Amino acid sequence: MSEAPSVLVEARDLKKHYPVRRGAFGRVVGTVRAVDGISLTLQKGESVGLVGESGCGKTTAARALLRLVEPTSGTVFFAGRSILEMDRHELRGLRRRAQMVFQDPFGSLNPRMTVGDMLREILGVHGLAASPRDADARIRRLLELVGLLPAHANRYPHEFSGGQRQRIGIARALSVEPEFIVCDEPVSALDVSVRAQVINLLKDLQAELGLTYLFIAHDLALVEHVSDRVAVMYLGRIVELAPARELYRDPKHPYTRALLSAVPNPDAARRGRRERIVLAGDIPSPANPPAGCPFYPRCPSPLKDDECRKVLPPLEEKAPARLAACLKVVPQARLAPFGPS
Ligand SMILES: Nc1ncnc2c1ncn2[C@@H]1O[C@H](COP(=O)(O)OP(=O)(O)OP(=O)(O)O)[C@@H](O)[C@H]1O
Ligand SMILES: [Mg+2]
Repeated sequence: MSEAPSVLVEARDLKKHYPVRRGAFGRVVGTVRAVDGISLTLQKGESVGLVGESGCGKTTAARALLRLVEPTSGTVFFAGRSILEMDRHELRGLRRRAQMVFQDPFGSLNPRMTVGDMLREILGVHGLAASPRDADARIRRLLELVGLLPAHANRYPHEFSGGQRQRIGIARALSVEPEFIVCDEPVSALDVSVRAQVINLLKDLQAELGLTYLFIAHDLALVEHVSDRVAVMYLGRIVELAPARELYRDPKHPYTRALLSAVPNPDAARRGRRERIVLAGDIPSPANPPAGCPFYPRCPSPLKDDECRKVLPPLEEKAPARLAACLKVVPQARLAPFGPS
């Protein structure tokens, strides 16, 4: 009998703004709206991809979601409990239940510790090993889970290849038996040839251990095969959220369409994908977002008009389970029952 899906993580109107300071006295001259009102729910066992250009706020959103930075406003619930109301003891529990895998495994591994010692230390801190023997057995099992050998426990981080190092980063995240893992561009720093291996490993682990993932990437192609749903971010907001397959088949938001058209995917031609849309201009600064639709200045849609320049589009349901923040995407219900003419 399958269990009814239950919510593991829920963010409501989450914001993280940073003050912009100038001069010797650090006078506040503005605000960077790194994350500007994100609402997102992750079901237990689900994998959600979070995609967008550099600087759109993906990492900040992930950090705010785990309270690694204090959100400016909004709420986050983890297993039904507001993480902003957690005391020190509860936060420690959260640190175990929710883990992060980083882009640069080298930067996040202690170069002076063998892999075995690093894992032993974490197991000790969280009281997860009953005895030194139990710790050794767990370390062996962790290395095996991520496709490394027991002997690798005696090596230092610099003695591994990039792909192997990322496997160690994954083993470290898994060592505390988390339920939720944020993978922040886990393969961006890796050679193209090993990316698929690490992605497949993450995917297999998710299935085997029943993990919930937030999978961050620049590139829509990377998250396609690991995500049940995909959220597309632009300037601190989610502009489209949809089941992965539908998002790739029929993107609603003009920004998603542009991102997809840039995906160098051999399948694209077969799937009859439209020609490449080149976005004019750079991503605007989150310190000075445009009024109205944040995507307006770069939007290639022939439908864009004065309304887009003035009105901030809400992220709303355009079709069942499909959200988009674009005034020019007509909700399907409004077209029914006759459909578009
Ligand atoms: N501690 C901070 N102080 C001030 N501004 C910050 C801080 N951290 C992030 N920002 C700004 O917030 C915005 C979002 O940054 P963030 O790192 O979340 O983007 P990202 O989508 O993860 O980018 P990338 O794909 O390059 O990792 C950027 O404009 C960044 O400069
Ligand atoms: Mg980032």
